[in-house]
Amino acid sequence: MTIFNLGSINIDKVYRVPHLPGPGETLAAREVTEGLGGKGANMSVAAARAGARVLHIGGVGGDGKWTVDRLTEYGVDSRGIHIGDTPTGHAIIAVEDAGENAILLYSGANQVIDPAHIADWLDTGTSDDTFVTQNETNAQREGAELASSRGMRVAYAAAPFDATRVQEILPLIDLLFLNEVEAQQLTEATGLSPEALPVKDVIVTLGAKGCRWIDTDTAETTEFPALKVTPVDTTGAGDTFTGYVLAGLDRGMPMAQAITQATKAAALMVTRLGTADVIPDLREVRDFNP
Ligand code: RIB
Repeated sequence: MTIFNLGSINIDKVYRVPHLPGPGETLAAREVTEGLGGKGANMSVAAARAGARVLHIGGVGGDGKWTVDRLTEYGVDSRGIHIGDTPTGHAIIAVEDAGENAILLYSGANQVIDPAHIADWLDTGTSDDTFVTQNETNAQREGAELASSRGMRVAYAAAPFDATRVQEILPLIDLLFLNEVEAQQLTEATGLSPEALPVKDVIVTLGAKGCRWIDTDTAETTEFPALKVTPVDTTGAGDTFTGYVLAGLDRGMPMAQAITQATKAAALMVTRLGTADVIPDLREVRDFNP
């Protein structure tokens, strides 16, 4: 069973700052690091570290060949990543002492992925497989249509939020990940509460409060509390959660068990500075008991 991820790949430049900069403010960073990131790449690494077979579909420029190598080193099948002429996407991430962040994105190669390239790689997908995508690439709808027509489980993380894109893809998905703000934005855009969405499973992440899983078939809502940790950097925690949930489901876990494990992975992730490079593996997650 494979998780096919149509997802962004970014070079993350992480700046450690005393507080997040305000309008017009010049602020000196104490430290800067560069690593692998992008919501898509983070989810691929998380799912691979959670034990799933993951094929990443995406695009980078020549300046991002190292990101492809790194994904491979982390156990992700990177053959679906096209290396083209458009520069690799990057993110400028300010992280303040309390762990909160502000992110500036340059999309680059993430937004010029050829739908024919996606179709080639989804060609082997079956009903045993999962397709996941987010909002940092182009062609989410095309990818979801193909995956759905092949009977794959279709999952979607509505981040960064874009009302038009979410509504386009909504009828095609089986599993939706949203944070609290995105859930509110989606309700404003559609007039539907998360419980009323035409999606089998909806997971609303609530940051330090945990998450809520809504099974819209049974109209049952289950709350999962977060683990208490001291945050160092919240960047990529949501992506880690999503990758771990998908890997758990792919390996046959019931939803509640997959969410419980993913909650631990996300809690451990917020104690670390960085993104894809520091996503914990299954053993670290199992040994983590705060
Ligand atoms: O969710 C965190 C990610 O958002 C970062 O890795 C950054 O690249 C942006 O895509």
